[in-house]
Amino acid sequence: MSILLFLVFFPLLSLGHTLEGCEDSSCNNDGPVIHFPFRLSHQPKHCGYDLGFELHCNNKKDTILELPSSVHLVVEKIDYVSQQIHLYDPEECIATKLPKLNLSQSNFTNDDYPTDLFNCSAPFSDNNYGYYLVPCLSSPGYQVHAVTSTSRLQYFLYGPCTKIHQYPYSHSTFGENKLQLNWLIPLCGNCEFKGMDCGFKNGTKLSETHCFNRTMTHKGTICMS
Ligand SMILES: *[C@@H]1O[C@H](CO)[C@@H](O)[C@H](O)[C@H]1NC(C)=O
Ligand SMILES: *[C@@H]1O[C@H](CO)[C@@H](O)[C@H](O)[C@H]1NC(C)=O
Ligand SMILES: *[C@@H]1O[C@H](CO)[C@@H](O)[C@H](O)[C@H]1NC(C)=O
Ligand SMILES: *[C@@H]1O[C@H](CO)[C@@H](O)[C@H](O)[C@H]1NC(C)=O
Ligand SMILES: *[C@@H]1O[C@H](CO)[C@@H](O)[C@H](O)[C@H]1NC(C)=O
Repeated sequence: MSILLFLVFFPLLSLGHTLEGCEDSSCNNDGPVIHFPFRLSHQPKHCGYDLGFELHCNNKKDTILELPSSVHLVVEKIDYVSQQIHLYDPEECIATKLPKLNLSQSNFTNDDYPTDLFNCSAPFSDNNYGYYLVPCLSSPGYQVHAVTSTSRLQYFLYGPCTKIHQYPYSHSTFGENKLQLNWLIPLCGNCEFKGMDCGFKNGTKLSETHCFNRTMTHKGTICMS
């Protein structure tokens, strides 16, 4: 698979020199393809929408997004049509990172049902019936469970469990160490849906994005016209 990707990608990248550094890029051959509104930190500024969409590669060749305040998550997938980014915590305990995260200061949103974390002294079987075990927060004799805040299950948990906190992320985020976020601005999904590229047009207002015809040899962003 990675050999195939290499063969497919390499000629495209080397033909992309006319695009002034805005060609499709990635941190590794299997990694998510990065183009507008995202850019890698070494690419010119106009290749990405703004600072909030800047990605970088770490020394393990993971693609990293930094969210406020200093929460570094790995990008697993970028869905450019639905404008969704799939993230996970490389340290496999996103539950310790989320309390620091403040999405209102970022370019991303989520519309998850909030989740309550419970610290339980009696073991509950983890049957995925509306709640998740959070192993990385559990300690000997205590299990931490993530439960949707609106769930009736909550009533059964009071007693052997104490509520730790409520978080505005889905219970599966805690259980599966994955976070899915959307961006609303810039609106490029319509370009992507039509098989076109999205980017800034030279000579227009900086915040204005446009759809461009995708060039034959290169599936990347045309950042200028
Ligand atoms: C997040 O940031 C906003 C704007 O700076 C602030 O009003 C809000 O209180 C912060 N929320 C948390 C949970 O820190
Ligand atoms: C993205 O976030 C930055 C702050 O990190 C802010 O200045 C900018 O306006 C945001 N852009 C959008 C499109 O929300
Ligand atoms: C759960 O409760 C026990 C006993 O109070 C405590 O030692 C432990 O740190 C708690 N765990 C969490 C994640 O709050
Ligand atoms: C935008 O166009 C002007 C005039 O055609 C040119 O001088 C400038 O270098 C262009 N800017 C970029 C970022 O390409
Ligand atoms: C984009 O492609 C369409 C269909 O191939 C063509 O009609 C149109 O003129 C192209 N636009 C530009 C700006 O090249």
